[in-house]
Amino acid sequence: MATAAQLKSLIRSHFSEQSERFYTMALQVAAHEAKQGHAALAHDIRQIIDTERKKKGPRILSFPQDLKGLVLTEEPQISKASLVIPDLLMERIHQVIHEYRQQEKLKSYGLSHRRKLLLIGPPGTGKTMTARVFAKELHLSLNTIQVDRLVTKFMGETSAKLRQIFDLMQQSPGIYLFDEFDAIGGERSMDNDVGEMRRVLNAFLQFIEQDTSDSIIIAATNNPKLLDRALFRRFDDVLYYRAPDKDDRKRLIENVLGTFKERKFAWKTVLSNSEGLSHAEIDHACKDSIKTAILNDITKVNATSLLKVIRNRQEALKGLRGEI
Ligand SMILES: Nc1ncnc2c1ncn2[C@@H]1O[C@H](COP(=O)(O)OP(=O)(O)OP(=O)(O)O)[C@@H](O)[C@H]1O
Ligand SMILES: [Mg+2]
Repeated sequence: MATAAQLKSLIRSHFSEQSERFYTMALQVAAHEAKQGHAALAHDIRQIIDTERKKKGPRILSFPQDLKGLVLTEEPQISKASLVIPDLLMERIHQVIHEYRQQEKLKSYGLSHRRKLLLIGPPGTGKTMTARVFAKELHLSLNTIQVDRLVTKFMGETSAKLRQIFDLMQQSPGIYLFDEFDAIGGERSMDNDVGEMRRVLNAFLQFIEQDTSDSIIIAATNNPKLLDRALFRRFDDVLYYRAPDKDDRKRLIENVLGTFKERKFAWKTVLSNSEGLSHAEIDHACKDSIKTAILNDITKVNATSLLKVIRNRQEALKGLRGEI
């Protein structure tokens, strides 16, 4: 059974109408029961909480005042069907979702669900999108920590802020995304201010290791070389993202154009010309050509109009790389 302290806290939070606190307490009771080996009861409690949460809709966190602007909360509605990634990567994402849903069962055996994830890959390949998909699938809010602000704005206080963020994870289970993570984890950042950055990184390592919350903690970066070796073993899973191959590009274009796609479509040319573009760039190109069609009162997008935008994007990329 729940402990006396838990029961009292549950009752108190109910009467003081602190629904967030009530949820958290109920989750703690579920976790407690799971640890006692009462997996079925724990599962039932979590089920009740999940159902109520779904009914109530978005649950916006109330942050301590000094975290305002450092953590952004959203309730994403992106389904996993729109995520175009290799099958093996999708399997690993399913595994995280599956373990989260079965966490009581795992806890009753003294095991924890995999929930500390490091996402590595080039820009625009779906790292942030994956965090959104987790939030949607698991009915949790997505809390994005603005790592660059955390580090630069509060130099000296960064470790203290990090602690507050880890406390928040414990109190309010959700998805916590450290985007642009190399601002903390980068060996390069050590150059600027060796002492301070080393301390921040050490604090992060310590917090993530000690963390026993139910939250899913995601760190995302597009620069694996910058990451300190010590970080890798703190994560339950390291997921690699890559630029879309031919099949991915086809699926992505089909998904985004949807019913706007002209039936006859010069796939071969589109696919060869889109090589090297990221998912985000292709997504953008498709949406641009849909807009053009709409503004010209045309109901379909053909390969020629998509190609035009794709070529513009390729040119822009070349410019960025200094090739033109
Ligand atoms: N794998 C993908 N499948 C489908 N759409 C994608 C994918 N990756 C990116 N997109 C599209 O591009 C947008 C931006 O992608 P996202 O923010 O996930 O990139 P990222 O990997 O986090 O990049 P960055 O490293 O720059 O933060 C998404 O909102 C989505 O529309
Ligand atoms: Mg991102």
